[in-house]
Amino acid sequence: MQVHLAVYPEMMASEFWEKLSKDMAKEGGILQTRTSPEELRGTYENGLAVILMVDDEPAGYFAIWPMSEEYYEVGSGFIRKDLRSQGYGTALYKKIATLSVLDGKIAFAISKNPAAIKAGYRAGFIRHLDWKNPVPYEFTCGLCDWIEEDKKPMCPDRNSSCTLCILHGGGI
Ligand SMILES: CC(C)(COP(=O)(O)OP(=O)(O)OC[C@H]1O[C@@H](n2cnc3c(N)ncnc32)[C@H](O)[C@@H]1OP(=O)(O)O)[C@@H](O)C(=O)NCCC(=O)NCCS
Repeated sequence: MQVHLAVYPEMMASEFWEKLSKDMAKEGGILQTRTSPEELRGTYENGLAVILMVDDEPAGYFAIWPMSEEYYEVGSGFIRKDLRSQGYGTALYKKIATLSVLDGKIAFAISKNPAAIKAGYRAGFIRHLDWKNPVPYEFTCGLCDWIEEDKKPMCPDRNSSCTLCILHGGGI
């Protein structure tokens, strides 16, 4: 099995993005507004994603989503089912956390997936309990599509099943 991590300018064929998008669309833990072939490709070609390639096939993806000048969300983490729990998620997370585009920015991640959270800790993300500061609420719970808008203020998942982490603590 040949494995490598790809970053732009390594080019991918257009069928590649269709396949990756289909695989990621099956995952409930990933914000589905971000998994179209166009989104995945555009993000990668802007230097904001890392891909796990196995035998020249897409087998994993992690991306950075700029929310504003200052705040960048790391997410859309995906590893093909048969390759999970073998360290690949951690490897992609570590790679993305060192991309220079994050220098001087506050990078954060939100997840309910224990494997993603663990991989994030290994990449230098630190758990943060305040969902309004330093990352504004509009970029944390504001974007959430797991719960109805009127239930968000009392969300029972916040800081229980749902975890916010900031890279290196965001300098706090
Ligand atoms: C999240 C995801 C990318 C992690 O990738 P991965 O390759 O499995 O991650 P790693 O192997 O590097 O690390 C996962 C760690 O979590 C552990 N783990 C897996 N499931 C777990 C669970 N339910 N509870 C606690 N730990 C768990 C693994 O054992 C491993 O730890 P170890 O190395 O000490 O054994 C992958 O599981 C995935 O694609 N999930 C579906 C999509 C998704 O929900 N993404 C989250 C978006 S935020």
